[in-house]
Amino acid sequence: MSGAPQLTTAARDPASVLFSDVRALDPRAGIQARCDLLVSHGEIAAIGEPGTISPGEDAELIDGRGELQLFPAFFDPHVHLRVPGQEHKEDLETGTRAAAAGGFCAVIAMPNTDPPIDSAPILRSLHELAAQEARVAVGFLPAISKGLRGAELTEMVELRAAGALGFSDDGRPVADAGLLRDAMRYQRLAGGVLALHEEELSLAAGGVMREGPTAARLGLRGIPALAEATMVARDAALALAEDARVHFQHLSCEGSLAALAAHKSIGAQLSAEVTPHHLLLCDEDLLGLETALKVNPPLASAADRSALRSALREGLIDCIATDHAPHAREEKEVPIEQAPFGSTGLETAFAALYSELVLPGELALSRLIEALTAGAELFGLPVPTIARGAPANLALVDLQAHWVAGEQGWESRAANCCLAGRPLRGRVLMTLAGGTVAYRERSFAMVAL
Ligand code: DOR
Repeated sequence: MSGAPQLTTAARDPASVLFSDVRALDPRAGIQARCDLLVSHGEIAAIGEPGTISPGEDAELIDGRGELQLFPAFFDPHVHLRVPGQEHKEDLETGTRAAAAGGFCAVIAMPNTDPPIDSAPILRSLHELAAQEARVAVGFLPAISKGLRGAELTEMVELRAAGALGFSDDGRPVADAGLLRDAMRYQRLAGGVLALHEEELSLAAGGVMREGPTAARLGLRGIPALAEATMVARDAALALAEDARVHFQHLSCEGSLAALAAHKSIGAQLSAEVTPHHLLLCDEDLLGLETALKVNPPLASAADRSALRSALREGLIDCIATDHAPHAREEKEVPIEQAPFGSTGLETAFAALYSELVLPGELALSRLIEALTAGAELFGLPVPTIARGAPANLALVDLQAHWVAGEQGWESRAANCCLAGRPLRGRVLMTLAGGTVAYRERSFAMVAL
């Protein structure tokens, strides 16, 4: 296996498709226009005025009628695919099918599996499995600490040589500042990104939801926002001192944003992500005690949610990540105190953010597309783009379509989606990933036949 950071996908036939009269939007490439776009043998071969490109002999014709939208496909730097060991929740095939259904052409999987992804042989075997099963490209962040125990570092240099995009103990914080500082020093040698789940465990102390009036009303133990903000402040300071490349995962409160902004402004190499659920929901949504809404970090106060939205708009938060966290039905169908943290999110991310932030005018569509693709760059990978000669990584979307999240079931093996049942606008009809057709929406597949 080469030493290059690696994304792996199963080999499939390259696609040839003419998207005729679609609305293309790729803010990074400066494209916003009605056009014909020809994908030939997996590559974007031509882009021209509507009505100017013909499909040729072997390309499928898709008529966008001047209405269907074509975006660069999305990149999710934070998903849980549950392999190895928790395939009853998800596996590489079902997880990447869910990703493709959401318009994603690539995802990065977390290491909190059973056993954890903490050695080069495990990482290599996962790449081999992805080469058999993955519909979209998959990369991995193996663990920072052996067994995710927070006591001893993994073989970071060896893991990078085996294709690691970076390292994370996601699901848990690196509580020991000395160990994290050592990890930063190795990261400078090995390269890659340290992605941090920030939670001061002595403050979180077995909490179930965000501390505040709603938790008090429900009589549930709260996790203060400070549990995250103090760790972000600690680790931003460490990153600055060590000149390390650090990415903050799933930020959820204003205090964290303040520490991020302060350290970014004085030169720390920091980036950050936010999830659709932290942007769209808040602690008050937990009044029904639904376990699908139990996530870590917990849903924030309405004020923190509004700070997250501003930070995304302004670019302090670099990208959107779903933290797709599938769990089996029986694991979530228990009292909320006992349920595991996590919500699925790959299949709803675009439509939910489009419906609830873009349509009401809170977020520009172009910023949403930027934030749904920026994760690739943060992890040193080419950003999906609409450009001649680029591999076809494209999401075809009907922005007029109405649908209800989960009404027709899920592509994911799991159903624990915190947005299930919500009426949404904007439906992914087709996803091209790495030049292949990774997904067709059912009704669209019938029309296309
Ligand atoms: O909600 C979460 N679920 N947050 C995490 O950090 C871990 C994840 C999981 O693995 O289920």
